[in-house]
Amino acid sequence: MCGIVGAIAQRPVAAILLEGLRRLEYRGYDSAGIAVLDPSEGLKRVRTLGKVAKLAEEVAASPLRGTLGIAHTRWATHGAPATHNAHPHVSHERCAIVHNGIVENHEELRRAQAAAGHSFTSDTDTEVVVHAIYDALTGGCALVDAVRQAAGKLRGAYALGVIDAQDPGHLVAARQGSPLVIGVGFGEHFIASDVFALLPVTNRFIFLEEGDIAELTLEHVRIWDRDGRLVERPVKTSTVSADATERGEHRHYMSKEIFEQPQAIANTLQGRLADDRILPEIFGSQATAQLADIESVSIVACGTSFHAGLVARYWMEAIAGIPCQVEVASEYRYRRHVVPKEALFVTISQSGETADTLAALRQAKDAGYATTLAICNVPESSLVRESDLVFLTHAGPEIGVASTKAFTTQLVALFLLTIALGRLKRLDAAEESKLVALLRSVPAKLKEVLALDSSIARLAEDFVDKQHTLFLGRGEQYPIAMEGALKLKEISYIHAEAYPAGELKHGPLALIDEQMPVVAVAPNNALLEKLKSNLEEVRARGGQLYVFADFQVPLDEGEGVTVIRLPETNDLIDPFVFTVPLQLLAYHVAVLKGTDVDQPRNLAKSVTVE
Ligand code: G6P
Repeated sequence: MCGIVGAIAQRPVAAILLEGLRRLEYRGYDSAGIAVLDPSEGLKRVRTLGKVAKLAEEVAASPLRGTLGIAHTRWATHGAPATHNAHPHVSHERCAIVHNGIVENHEELRRAQAAAGHSFTSDTDTEVVVHAIYDALTGGCALVDAVRQAAGKLRGAYALGVIDAQDPGHLVAARQGSPLVIGVGFGEHFIASDVFALLPVTNRFIFLEEGDIAELTLEHVRIWDRDGRLVERPVKTSTVSADATERGEHRHYMSKEIFEQPQAIANTLQGRLADDRILPEIFGSQATAQLADIESVSIVACGTSFHAGLVARYWMEAIAGIPCQVEVASEYRYRRHVVPKEALFVTISQSGETADTLAALRQAKDAGYATTLAICNVPESSLVRESDLVFLTHAGPEIGVASTKAFTTQLVALFLLTIALGRLKRLDAAEESKLVALLRSVPAKLKEVLALDSSIARLAEDFVDKQHTLFLGRGEQYPIAMEGALKLKEISYIHAEAYPAGELKHGPLALIDEQMPVVAVAPNNALLEKLKSNLEEVRARGGQLYVFADFQVPLDEGEGVTVIRLPETNDLIDPFVFTVPLQLLAYHVAVLKGTDVDQPRNLAKSVTVE
């Protein structure tokens, strides 16, 4: 989703801004732009459709000099991806802005501004913001006051970076509903959508809160809250190194992140276990008291994080004996719902900024849930700040749009939550110890699965020329089949659907023919015999079967049946083991098809608008 970078410095900022944009590419975008205040020529702007590299080439051809500037990657919402819609937007060659979010009342503002004589050069919702700021500036306001005045007219969500050609000493930023951080340097200051963009120039950050407006100069940062009071926000030091966001020897971030999973899981477990028990307060210092009376769990999330929630439902009910419901946030937030008594509301999110998940959390708090818990990978995110309890997955930065290590570390968090709630209800120490041992075995199991990489790469050749694929699973493998299908469709653009295998004969069987590969997830569990009958139904209709099975599963390869053997595990941790080969399959199919694996078309990493 849109990315913002801005800088006020004593050195030229164009290179810093372009590097910042490059580091925000993972969020997903379709066009990019930069505006710098040139000491002799005024505001200079370069915009382009397509990649940041193309923007950088254009800037190299006509260098931008200047020590104050803003830059942006745009993910189209209002107005097609096109150069004239790319940010920064400018009013009367005087002020320029970059914006992330959606201005909901843009049509009415546009009508009024057009009637007042403003001409529009884009189809975006953003352009009304820059004209409103211009009007306030020409009315005599200082830049920060002009932004405050304009912001007062907006409905919706925004993160803004603003500069004024007549005021080279200030960069102004504002946040309402879309993330924005300030990078604190020595004699220079920066803004960005996330910390990754600024890691090459600083590791000290101020995280703006909802409604904040900030004024940055070379020497200082002043922040006003939503009520216009001057406030102090803490400066936090990030421990993420600039290298953590590099690709290393891997061809794509996604491959790097798939292979990082054993380590990411080990990191997520670190400090959470003591011998064969989980430590008491891993969900927050008040967790024991806040979880003590919990009688049910409601989980809300989007995308891959939703799939993690679906796996947790099986664990929660089977292991902890606690009723658990799971729903996508965009549905949950728009339906009337009943709040169960003593219910824990859990949000799961890699980014902690997903607009629907955040809105669902706010609603759940208003609706009166007993306690809220965020499972998240980004420490200073909105979700983390607004939840009663927090569990941080320590997956490290995830750059590939298709989520991989964030998912498996979310599963770790949910398994730990299951144990924590279970021992308050019915698990004894011996059972807890068995579960902890299982969890500890996951990193090593995943290393064994990763060793299958080259055979899965060969298997991928069978999928490149296919249009459709069906993924089947039963029990907790059904959400894993859903996650496998999501990975394949996201990055290879092959239509992939997942079904609980028992539903096959209620519809999808009609689609089966030799052009429709069917991928089945088949651990050696109580549902295996049922699943095998479902697979027979596919074979009988000429379908091509690809079965991911553990070593013990009695299944023979043969005409139309390929079996991929995975290490033997325990039922409860099968979801970890079976996820990884499906990630690898999607990855290799996408590589063979030559798609943009890390930034698939039309998708964004962090979906900060509805
Ligand atoms: C986008 C991403 C997915 C992610 C989903 C939820 O669709 O492309 O990878 O699973 O958002 O994001 P979250 O940050 O809330 O986990």
